[in-house]
Amino acid sequence: MERVSTKATGPDYLTKVGRWSDASVRKINVPFAGTEKVMGIDWDSDEYRVDQNDERWIIPDNFDIGGHEWYQNLPREEKIRIGLYRYAQVARVGSEFENALSIGVNYAGMATRSDDEITRYAFHEAEEEHRHVLMFRQFVTQTGVEPMGAPDWFRSVAWLTAPVARKAKAAFWWLVLSGEEPIDKMQRDLIKMNKTDADTVHPLMERVMKVHVEEEARHINFADSSLKEMIDSLGPVERQAMAVAAPVASLIAAKVIVKPSRASLKEMGVPQKVANELWTNEYMAPLLANARERADALGLRDGERKSLLGKAAWRLLRIDEGK
Ligand SMILES: [Fe+2]
Ligand SMILES: [Fe+2]
Repeated sequence: MERVSTKATGPDYLTKVGRWSDASVRKINVPFAGTEKVMGIDWDSDEYRVDQNDERWIIPDNFDIGGHEWYQNLPREEKIRIGLYRYAQVARVGSEFENALSIGVNYAGMATRSDDEITRYAFHEAEEEHRHVLMFRQFVTQTGVEPMGAPDWFRSVAWLTAPVARKAKAAFWWLVLSGEEPIDKMQRDLIKMNKTDADTVHPLMERVMKVHVEEEARHINFADSSLKEMIDSLGPVERQAMAVAAPVASLIAAKVIVKPSRASLKEMGVPQKVANELWTNEYMAPLLANARERADALGLRDGERKSLLGKAAWRLLRIDEGK
């Protein structure tokens, strides 16, 4: 797996680049007035410092790999090391999904009228996603881990969001939700756990997740409403094709996000056997509860306007139930 770095670049040039990055946030000119607050993250504060000895990096035993006895039986330092990598890995993969979304939105937007309101919102969303990418990457940097991120094949096909966003809008927004919802669910679960026990999650991660969850709520609403608008423009054959492709896309996206790639399993030192036992299709099913509900509402699975093909696909993939 290739990890490209610009670290070998000359120091003068890097100093200048650093200055440009600072200047980019010192003063922000926005095309639309009405910014209520600009909230930055104070990455250097003591509270947010990442300490390799901090037990808040241990994955809770009712979450993710924390629930597997292989992890539970590890020594404390190993739990922290793997936990830190695991959280950094999910943030990194999330940022790569956001890159893919922006590629699609930007490409599709080139072809629309300048006064197109839907494109305007989509560009606002892409702008937010870009900030999320910056935020997640900075979070990863602070952890001191350089995780492997999404598998190579995902990076190779991510550009395909461009033609899909332009030619098959409904499929594109379904794909977007397939990436957004599993991450959103994981983050909401952790935030909730931290409410009951404040030492479950490190404050830096909590801050990053709270910023993300707040903005994603709008993104998810937009994609959901857009799909409802778009679905009736599909012909019967397209609709059936989408009914079958939708659960496949959702399952693949959930697995890319949740199940670490082979390369990252190796770096973490998690046996493939443990990964296969834990991150099964049945494990993904509860993460797809909203996707199932949406498929029913759109006539792609069950409900009033059933699709028998769609229904069969969800069942064959063993993701047709689970809360
Ligand atoms: Fe995001
Ligand atoms: Fe989003």
